Amino acid sequence: MTVPAIRSRKKDGKTDQPLVMLTAYTMRMAQLLDPHCEMLLVGDSLGQVIYGLPSTVPVTMEMMCAHGAAVVRGSWHALVAVDMPFGSYEGSPEQAFASASRVMKETGCAAVKLEGGEAMAPTIDFLTHRGIPVIGHVGLTPQAVNVLGGYGARGKSADEAKKILTDARAVADAGAFCIVAEGVMEQIAEQVTEAVGVPIIGIGASPRCDGQVLVTEDMLGLFERTPRFVKRYADMATEIGAAVGQYAEEVRSRAFPTGDQTYRPKE
Ligand code: KIV
Ligand code: NA
Repeated sequence: MTVPAIRSRKKDGKTDQPLVMLTAYTMRMAQLLDPHCEMLLVGDSLGQVIYGLPSTVPVTMEMMCAHGAAVVRGSWHALVAVDMPFGSYEGSPEQAFASASRVMKETGCAAVKLEGGEAMAPTIDFLTHRGIPVIGHVGLTPQAVNVLGGYGARGKSADEAKKILTDARAVADAGAFCIVAEGVMEQIAEQVTEAVGVPIIGIGASPRCDGQVLVTEDMLGLFERTPRFVKRYADMATEIGAAVGQYAEEVRSRAFPTGDQTYRPKE
């Protein structure tokens, strides 16, 4: 998958078949997801999912580069995009270029994603005119949790709804080739998808979008608590618990390993 291939999936304001995106942070998970997805996102959600951090705010460039490189090694078909971590791009377009070019060089990814609307438009324009494809991210922007005061859905008031639409338009006009819309009311998602020429990838943003993304660990049922917009397609926490429980029991009872798992001289 290439940036123009993703971009051109939306023609005359419509996408025939929704785009499929999931998060990946490791090589092996990328290998498993790659055949099924148009895009893999190395999300800064790895802060919570992999590192146990309280939010995405403390995530570093080093973390994004290390996991981005691992995911690129595990994918052949899907376009890999890497999140720019908080503090690595907001200062100026020049700062954003230095950070984003480092991410691209160190990981081999095809695009970066950054959060923000109108305020980030000059930065998105700067990057896209210098060879860095950008995915926008509007609505609920988790890196701004300390300003927003939580992770609740956005676009509940008329002012907020208008702002999200303005943000999406500005990000698309600045050159983003697709936009993630997170945690927005259905009506806003519909308006944004209609108003903007590039694919809108929703997460907690209704079926009205041009594609969907979820955090893979959420949809696999690896967490007890997930947001309302997550559908669980598997119950991996229970499966892992059962497998590990059986392993522990067999080690303690000496049922594992047996001759099958043991190196012995040939008879
Ligand atoms: O960090 C992340 O995983 C994301 C997606 C959920 C859109 O930004
Ligand atoms: Na993110």
